[in-house]
Amino acid sequence: MSTLIRNVNAVIDGQLVETSLLIADGKIVDIAPAQQVGADEVVDGGGKILIPGVVDDQVHFREPGLTAKEDLTHASRACAKGGVTSFLEMPNTIPNAITQSLIDDKLAIAAKKSIVNFGFYIGATPNNASELKHAVRTPGIKIFIGSSTGNLLVDEQAALETIFAETTLTICAHCEDETTVRANAAKYADRTDVAAHSLVRDYEAAKIATARAIALAEKHQHRFHVLHVSTADEVELIRAAKAKHDLITAEACPHHLFFSVEDYETLGSLVKMNPSIKSKADNKALFAALLDGTIEVIATDHAPHTIEEKQLPYPKCPSGLPAVENSLALMLNEVNQGRCSIEQVVGWMCEAPARVWDMKHKGEIAVGYDADLVLVDMELKIEVKNEDQQTKCGWTPWHGTTLQGWPVRTWVMGHEVFRKQEGKDQFEQNVFGRAIQYAHPT
Ligand code: DOR
Repeated sequence: MSTLIRNVNAVIDGQLVETSLLIADGKIVDIAPAQQVGADEVVDGGGKILIPGVVDDQVHFREPGLTAKEDLTHASRACAKGGVTSFLEMPNTIPNAITQSLIDDKLAIAAKKSIVNFGFYIGATPNNASELKHAVRTPGIKIFIGSSTGNLLVDEQAALETIFAETTLTICAHCEDETTVRANAAKYADRTDVAAHSLVRDYEAAKIATARAIALAEKHQHRFHVLHVSTADEVELIRAAKAKHDLITAEACPHHLFFSVEDYETLGSLVKMNPSIKSKADNKALFAALLDGTIEVIATDHAPHTIEEKQLPYPKCPSGLPAVENSLALMLNEVNQGRCSIEQVVGWMCEAPARVWDMKHKGEIAVGYDADLVLVDMELKIEVKNEDQQTKCGWTPWHGTTLQGWPVRTWVMGHEVFRKQEGKDQFEQNVFGRAIQYAHPT
């Protein structure tokens, strides 16, 4: 099966180029092919922008075990609609993905259900270093240095030292210091307003844990990726580390870029997340860190809970919000506001995560790369609505927000899985997602 996508402005090698693309057997086989070249199917891109599919390196898709909140059918449809063609999922499912056989179980479920490409991190526990050491078919190791949703936690120094010393896969971590969070929780135990969440999971908690993880990476010369940076202080720590070595990469999430503590008043527990949202000054510092390259990745930390759970009174309401179907549009809207360029968005959401996680043939439009592609309409304005969401939880903190710039067609391994037609979202129900391949030993 071959497809010719003609008349597009494609982001190639960091530049917008007016071109055509020939796809065959799931791969990009030619860029700017000869005029007379034929294909089974010809798509006219109408001069719109074509980008590599988004690689979201931090999602919680809840399968197995928590499928009342989300499952791979709904989540992968939400990805396709949002222009996300590959995801890396976190281990805090039930059971926790902490062994090779549980990673393989997840890969098997996804092969049957996901319409986009998939990968699953292996979770660290205080005593599973030998599993982590021999893990294959996984992008890397996830450590909850501070606890969040679920019961995964490694905060004893000896256990952390063992993991950093004895394993080779890239490590990423949830960095909020457990001791600080527990002390704050006791201090603010009488608070019942959700704004207290940002006092419990405060600046110190984020800073202490991120500094601790960077120190471990430096001591053991281990590649380390800082997940969901939420504070200007952490940006400084990462900037200082990057001035000395190449061990550290970092990531920001849309909710930490666009929400601040002021939003608790209108959105309440819908913006209760771990790490907590911080101030407008932190929003600005994170955006500046993306622009200057201190942070290279944007990922969502898509973490759905049912609306009934989210409406429980604080502190019972769980932390987490869904985002995969709106993250690219949120950033395209920023392009339209003149705050960044489409080439930078492709760098943060496609190229960098594919590079950080050693993915083969992902994140770029290049000959020989997988045909994971997204056509975006930079003129299209849509009001985000709860009732239009594909995520199983059926709500979004961006309900009522109008964004300009949306994915309108998405291809996964050369198959069109999503198309917006006359305002309607259409999905290919057949399964086309593949297990992501990595350059590290698998
Ligand atoms: O707010 C969060 N929710 N942060 C996490 O790290 C986990 C996530 C979840 O799984 O619900």
